[in-house]
Amino acid sequence: MSLVENIKKNKVPKHIAIIMDGNGRWAKKKGMARIFGHRNALTAVRESVIGASEVGTEAISLYAFSTENWNRPKLEVDALMSLLIHSLKKELPDFQKNNVKVNAIGRLGDLPKKAQETLNEVIDATKTNNKITLTFCLSYGSREEINTCVKKIAEEVKKGNLNPEDITEDLIQQNLYTHNLPDVDLMIRTSGEQRLSNYLLWQLAYAELYFTETLWPDFRREDLFKAVETYQNRERRFGKTSEQLEGEHEQTI
Ligand code: IPE
Ligand code: IPE
Ligand code: MG
Repeated sequence: MSLVENIKKNKVPKHIAIIMDGNGRWAKKKGMARIFGHRNALTAVRESVIGASEVGTEAISLYAFSTENWNRPKLEVDALMSLLIHSLKKELPDFQKNNVKVNAIGRLGDLPKKAQETLNEVIDATKTNNKITLTFCLSYGSREEINTCVKKIAEEVKKGNLNPEDITEDLIQQNLYTHNLPDVDLMIRTSGEQRLSNYLLWQLAYAELYFTETLWPDFRREDLFKAVETYQNRERRFGKTSEQLEGEHEQTI
């Protein structure tokens, strides 16, 4: 079993992003309706946030509802939205106790009014917390995010506030929903699917990807620790050679 003690303190991922997948299949295996899986996903959310906080990660982002998920049956969408409202309210005391700052990204205006209100309340109530930033990705799609970003920048060019030469990678980063978050170091997807499903395409450019067969409702702290351990055993080369990295390492010791 993976333990938090096995995690090296000098190589902690700053930002962990999770595609929480497999709720429907978890429920189906138990002969239950898909919603039952969503209802049983809260423990996994709690455990990942606590686990990431114990590891010393600055930010954790959770893919909770994609722009494509609006195409699911209305009954399931409605259930997911009421679950969101209910869970946010229920978790607020724990967010406070654990010093968790809540954030949300995506087309938040598409969410039902009640969900928007609850989200704003929780974001406001936790805004001075600083142990870890928890970002809920809701009605989130990476292509939509990039599209919105391009439009914002184009408007500035049109107004004459910006020249095309001023458009840098940094400027793009500053105009994404994730402008106040570090790049993703580790991306975890549960349920065995190995795809990004329109998640953080820009931000994942150099992330380490970790796929596990575990279905999301079964995901626990130890599973997160295992992912972080795996991450720490990888060599992140960022285009360089292994030999170059060894040289750099020697210079720093
Ligand atoms: C992830 O589980 C939760 C959401 C996408 C909202 P799924 O509902 O996708 O579960 P599977 O993939 O059908 O098992
Ligand atoms: C991705 O899961 C979205 C979330 C986890 C919220 P999906 O289950 O919707 O992804 P696909 O459609 O199978 O790729
Ligand atoms: Mg799925």
